[in-house]
Amino acid sequence: MTFKEHVSLASHTTFMVNVSARYFAEVRSVSDIRDLVTNPLWQSERHYILGGGSNLLIRADLDGIVVKNLIDGIDVVDEDDTSISLRVGAGVVWDDLVKWTTERDLWGIENLVLIPGSVGGAVVQNIGAYGVEVSSVVATVEAVDLSSGKELSFTNEACQFSYRSSVFKSSILQYLVSYVTLRLSKSAHPVLTYPRVLEDLQARGSAEHPSPKDLAEVIANIRRSKLPEVGEIGMAGSFFKNPVVTREQADELKVRYPDMPRFDLPDGSVKIPAGWVIETLGYKGYRDGNVGTYDKHALVLVNHGGASGHEVWNLAEKIMNDARESLGMNLEPEVVLLP
Ligand code: EPU
Repeated sequence: MTFKEHVSLASHTTFMVNVSARYFAEVRSVSDIRDLVTNPLWQSERHYILGGGSNLLIRADLDGIVVKNLIDGIDVVDEDDTSISLRVGAGVVWDDLVKWTTERDLWGIENLVLIPGSVGGAVVQNIGAYGVEVSSVVATVEAVDLSSGKELSFTNEACQFSYRSSVFKSSILQYLVSYVTLRLSKSAHPVLTYPRVLEDLQARGSAEHPSPKDLAEVIANIRRSKLPEVGEIGMAGSFFKNPVVTREQADELKVRYPDMPRFDLPDGSVKIPAGWVIETLGYKGYRDGNVGTYDKHALVLVNHGGASGHEVWNLAEKIMNDARESLGMNLEPEVVLLP
């Protein structure tokens, strides 16, 4: 195992902030991981795992070992008339996997098209969009416990998936995900709950029997109309989670802001779009020096070029303080913060 030293991480994260790693290593197999965790340097330094680096804000230089997960491969491990199981390397680019599956008419992840990042990252943060979360198709996750070097296999239940989280995110420094096994369907299961999806399919004349590819194309168009693509500008998608408030708080806010969108949840609480909160506070398209929010979607914090991790974090804190003081709303980061 070789370590590079003093490596810039700007090109390894979609926020493109200017930070560096004291040591940097790449792993391409489970045996690479074993070599890594038995290396003396590993025992003495802190360590951080990078997948696609697309849901991450690195606020300062990392004084430890940064590991880039490049484990590759898409293999069919089980198949019958109605479904197929794929074992996928955690370093595979998520959107490449979506293309692979939609080209083969497989159902399950078509709504998650164009989400940046790796397959490992997708599971760590339980990516979700347009009515689907990756947890709905995960069969098992293989990971290495970084303190003991032990290889572990997690059932879907053991992954403890929740909204944008999992056991791998809540103990982010403990596990390195190596492989993910997904179970996809061969029969049609279109999820058309998100506004515009069905309308757009109808407009294309493919609403009757859409293919996974039809759905992925329609959703890709909706995404492009609101969200920046990787490389266009520094960002990490939604910066905050959508906050959940009590029904009383939502009712009070609705009196003050009759246009406030709200999604009543089965347990009586109410989810409010963080994008609406940030826009209402006056931050949509806001810019302060090198940082700001995206002009078409206030929930996306952006690095206009040359920003440090601290500058982005200062803006995030300013928005969180304003949300608390003006609306009594607690915004929580959705991105992983390091260190
Ligand atoms: N809105 C505003 N102003 C804005 C942006 C949004 O008022 O600047 C309001 C609008 O009323 C809109 C509502 O917020 O109807 C919801 O916006 P959108 O449909 O874009 O969804 P979201 O809740 O902001 C979530 C995910 C996205 C995912 C979309 C689509 C979170 C934190 N974000 O965004 O995920 O793509 O739904 O399903 O749950 C990500 O996690 O990085 C991400 C982009």
